[in-house]
Amino acid sequence: MSSADAFYVTTPIYYVNDVPHIGHAYTTLACDAIARFARLDGRRVRFLTGTDEHGQKVEKAAAVAGMAPQLFTDQVSQRFRELAERMQITHDDFIRTTEARHKAGVQALWRELVRRDQIYLGTYAGWYSVRDESFYAESELVDGVAPTGAPVEWVEEPSYFFRLSTWQEPLLRFYDEHPGFILPASRRNEVIRFVAGGLQDLSVSRTSFRWGIPVPDDPEHVIYVWLDALTNYMTALGYPDVDQLNFRTFWPADVHVVGKDILRFHAVYWPAFLLAAGLAPPRRVFAHGWWTHEGQKISKSLGNVIDPVQLIDDYGLDQTRYFLLREVPFGNDGDFSRGAMVKRMNRDLANDYGNLVQRVLSLIQRNCAGRLPSPVAFTDEDDRLLGAGKALLDRVRTEMAAQALSRALEAIFELVGAANRYVDAQAPWALRKTDPARMATVLYVLAETIRRLALLTQAFLPEASARILDQLAVPADARTLEHYQADAARLLPGTPLPSPTGVFPRFSE
Ligand code: MSP
Repeated sequence: MSSADAFYVTTPIYYVNDVPHIGHAYTTLACDAIARFARLDGRRVRFLTGTDEHGQKVEKAAAVAGMAPQLFTDQVSQRFRELAERMQITHDDFIRTTEARHKAGVQALWRELVRRDQIYLGTYAGWYSVRDESFYAESELVDGVAPTGAPVEWVEEPSYFFRLSTWQEPLLRFYDEHPGFILPASRRNEVIRFVAGGLQDLSVSRTSFRWGIPVPDDPEHVIYVWLDALTNYMTALGYPDVDQLNFRTFWPADVHVVGKDILRFHAVYWPAFLLAAGLAPPRRVFAHGWWTHEGQKISKSLGNVIDPVQLIDDYGLDQTRYFLLREVPFGNDGDFSRGAMVKRMNRDLANDYGNLVQRVLSLIQRNCAGRLPSPVAFTDEDDRLLGAGKALLDRVRTEMAAQALSRALEAIFELVGAANRYVDAQAPWALRKTDPARMATVLYVLAETIRRLALLTQAFLPEASARILDQLAVPADARTLEHYQADAARLLPGTPLPSPTGVFPRFSE
């Protein structure tokens, strides 16, 4: 059992057949926001990402590049590492399935499954899609191709099978007993329907190519790439050494975040393998949607691939994070366009959040000699805004507990809106001559509201939030959510503030 305050979040491990694109960046950024929030909220976090390097798809890509698979995967994996760095991802570990620690763990899981009579030798005769690295039943094909549109080929070869069919009832029971295992709920229903429709034993080894982890005691076979890949979530914690501190602390994972296309592997095969090996399944699999580009499927052949590095160069890292995480409810599909991105950045970040911070900090600079003002008595309006600020934390916590990233941001930006309306209504600039004590109170209420907003936005807009907190002179050790509601952590009147500088640029539409 993992410890109560521990939190383990994972991205899928990315195929190294191609360079990273917006889809990969999206999953990783979402997990990063989830991990950052959990850390801010006092959890002991482990955040894992990495690369999926075996299988026919990668072997073929290496052959096309005219390179030995290991050399090829070394290079492409490096690109994913660099992207994570460029996105300032806060992962604790980066696993590659070609590493010795991983191979040993996968072989150990295999042996455990054999020991428990969950694997037997037979012959596979059926369809396989290299692009999806997936077996398909005849009945699943649509006009001769996979339901995903990927081409399939007929495969007939000796193969080991996993007794998936015997796990149908236990899986259905497991979904029933763990209603939060698959999110969003609509996806959960899809998975349950699929499992209820009947499960066939799953081919878990291949003999027609070499690029994989050999089956223990039968090296003619390599282990099916999905059994290999899924196990990364445990090998990165030291599996098979289940007594290792990391394994004991962080398994079972709190959430595997995956795209909707790979939900079946994570929500059906993976818990079945784990239950069959006597191990605890993860607590949750969250399936997010897919991005299209101006209404079109993103694909290399259409030439409409979005390079995340280009977006970050053009608009900034926080802006890219914000747009992707705010624009669509996490779980839904989304459509990307630069126009929509610019609109959203200008409206939410520059006009609303940025302008609030800028207005308040420059009024304090000009009218309060650059020091945090001292409030006197609070009015009802003051209490209302402060109260809304205080209450926001629980709402954001609730949304984040369900990985509802866009809803968390929506709630945060509702407070930005309320604070902007309060500035307009209180017009502190007009109070300087008439009622300086009231002006000081209004500016204090606003500064305190901005402090709370910035504490929360750290998970989503890390760079900008740090700059806002710097400008409010919030000490580095007072930036966790423990300091959100505590009276002792409130801004200290009289504290000198640095001169304000703009945080969010405006882009031309
Ligand atoms: N290697 C497997 C995962 C193994 S996990 C044990 C894999 N890799 S992948 O590189 O093809 O895809 C990784 C992730 O990128 C998936 O979650 C997928 O949904 C996501 N995306 C790929 N294209 C995408 C979009 N256009 N939009 C959003 N996410 C998409 O699958």
